[in-house]
Amino acid sequence: MNWATIPKVELHLHLEGAAPPEFIRQLAREKNVELPGVFDEKGAYRWTDFAEFLRTYAAACSVLQGPEDFGRLAQAVLETSAGDGVIYTEIFIAPDICGGGDKVAWGEYLAALTEAARSAQASHGIVARFISTCIRNHGAEAAENAARLSAGTAGEMLTGFGMGGEERFGSVQDYVKAFAIAAEAGLEITSHAGEICGAESVRETLEHLPVSRIGHGVRAIEDPELVKRLADEEIVLEVNPGSNIALSVYDRWEAHPIQKLRDAGVPVTVSTDDPPYFHTDMPREYRRLHEVFGWDAEDFRAINLTAAHAAFCDEKTRSEII
Ligand code: HPA
Ligand code: ZN
Repeated sequence: MNWATIPKVELHLHLEGAAPPEFIRQLAREKNVELPGVFDEKGAYRWTDFAEFLRTYAAACSVLQGPEDFGRLAQAVLETSAGDGVIYTEIFIAPDICGGGDKVAWGEYLAALTEAARSAQASHGIVARFISTCIRNHGAEAAENAARLSAGTAGEMLTGFGMGGEERFGSVQDYVKAFAIAAEAGLEITSHAGEICGAESVRETLEHLPVSRIGHGVRAIEDPELVKRLADEEIVLEVNPGSNIALSVYDRWEAHPIQKLRDAGVPVTVSTDDPPYFHTDMPREYRRLHEVFGWDAEDFRAINLTAAHAAFCDEKTRSEII
């Protein structure tokens, strides 16, 4: 199988988390910004655990300083994805990072990102949509502000709202209002849960937030009743196996629950999360799934169909990627 050319639908990719280290170093040079501790001696992102990953991520983001930088980044990321065989991608962006939560700035960032997405579609055929996220460890007030900005810019390109960041911070209930604002505006909803924290985190998310998908969600496997609920309610998991291995959620691919979840009837999809941080990309994820679980062209077709049905896009776009 040619891992680069087999068509792929990706639903879980953080824009800044997809920035190649060289891209961040180039911007740092252009702006004369020092980035102490961000890179290791080989030039890769330096981090050892999830908390440090989030700190390195935030430090690397400090060189992304305006709509133009983000437009350049989106263009580079989409070109890479297209080269990896991705035909449709959903990219997480964040009002807290794009303009620090300011309404006018957010509009300018989103315009630059939209332009990059349109240009990548014209030049590389890849279709992209954006999911705006709040950052859990920035607190409920910042999340509500992010939700209001997202609600005000919901449309063809900005189609979803979600939450990333430190899963151990606060409680899901604190974010009910933010998600209600976003859902009310017609944005479709996903949220990170069951990555760093266990099944209870997924259960709370289902209980309190209007999600149709969950970012990761893999630790639901620790509770068979919850697995059954995910299957019965057809809650789609955005699974990122390579990310989970890199962050030591599981110690090896063979121990990853994606196959068990799939066997239990949970709709699973496959994405990369933050590829250069986790030393992965879509072709590598597919190759490992083939090697470890024996997934073949038919399995990949099935998970891509699941992803296309769960995509936050209009029906016309959906019909084009199926
Ligand atoms: N998990 C949670 N938040 C994030 C991640 C992640 O993998 N990447 C960027 N923000
Ligand atoms: Zn993520």
